[in-house]
Amino acid sequence: MSAIQIGPYRLDGRVFLAPMAGVTDLPFRRLCRRMGAALAAGEMLSADPRLWHTAESQRRRDHSGEDEPRVVQIAGGDPQMMADAARRNVDAGAQVIDINMGCPAKKVCNKEAGSALLRDERLVTEILEATVRAAEVPVTLKIRTGWSSDRRNGVEIARIAEASGIRALAVHGRTRACRFEGEAEYETIAAIKQAVGIPVLANGDIDSPAKALRVVQATGVDGVMIGRAAQGRPWIFREIEAVLAGRTVPAEPAPGEVRDIICAHLRDLYGFYGVEAGVRIARKHIGWYCRERPQAQAFRQSVMQVDSAEGQLAAVREYFAALDQSPAEAA
Ligand SMILES: Cc1cc2nc3c(=O)[nH]c(=O)nc-3n(C[C@H](O)[C@H](O)[C@H](O)COP(=O)(O)O)c2cc1C
Repeated sequence: MSAIQIGPYRLDGRVFLAPMAGVTDLPFRRLCRRMGAALAAGEMLSADPRLWHTAESQRRRDHSGEDEPRVVQIAGGDPQMMADAARRNVDAGAQVIDINMGCPAKKVCNKEAGSALLRDERLVTEILEATVRAAEVPVTLKIRTGWSSDRRNGVEIARIAEASGIRALAVHGRTRACRFEGEAEYETIAAIKQAVGIPVLANGDIDSPAKALRVVQATGVDGVMIGRAAQGRPWIFREIEAVLAGRTVPAEPAPGEVRDIICAHLRDLYGFYGVEAGVRIARKHIGWYCRERPQAQAFRQSVMQVDSAEGQLAAVREYFAALDQSPAEAA
């Protein structure tokens, strides 16, 4: 398999972090890149600049210390507004613009953006052409397999994307109507890969190196995009990267390594959001990190009560020290 090339960027790997609003903030992206993600798009930004002045939106546009290329995802249904948003984000440092036509979130779909656009192929063409023309950097696209199961027009959309100058395509194996229900299907992704020459990434329900390998072999895609399975398991990137490169999958990190990863992640969250918000946001990550570990529920409940950074770090250290000493007993 040759390396994935997106415009001038030849990527080091073939496993991408999926954009997830409320999850893929700067600290999480930096962590996933360190763990082997070849690319990590930021949380979706509305194309409407009137919404850019909130503190949340300012933070979403912060890319300090992030590995290159820096990817900004935009969503919107108006070609001119999308073109302007792309240009302004490139001026602010974006090196790749990703367009979201894959997210069924109500907030987005009600405004005829995200995956709602997939039913209107003419509008899709206008948005893609306008954005590609305006951005002086590569533009990528994220879609679902279609609007609904009887209008699975992913192949047509992919052809439109390639003809419009889109440089890579990520496909979530569900239709817009499926939301998050059922299992992702990969047949349409295989058909899309056959139909276009640009790099295609498979996305949806890939949660292990074995599954990633199966999906790549079944679809012929160039790489995979991982969302929920990276929550609390950011080392999944190096595992999948290894299996796709034909290497042995690295061993599951020992509790001591997991503890160090979590503590570094928490410190980064405190630095990025300030301590109060950082401690609050860290709670959901701690929950994910401990999800399948011994005594997870009791630990989660106790750590929810802690509201200082030192207390939170100490609780994590104590929990993992107990696991390290007697994992069987703790279970
Ligand atoms: C909490 C959450 C937020 C998401 N936000 C976005 C988003 O901002 N932009 C986008 O294109 N997709 C978004 N998605 C969809 C994911 O990028 C991905 O397509 C989906 O989760 C399927 O991949 P997975 O099974 O690996 O999680 C979001 C998904 C989740 C769970």
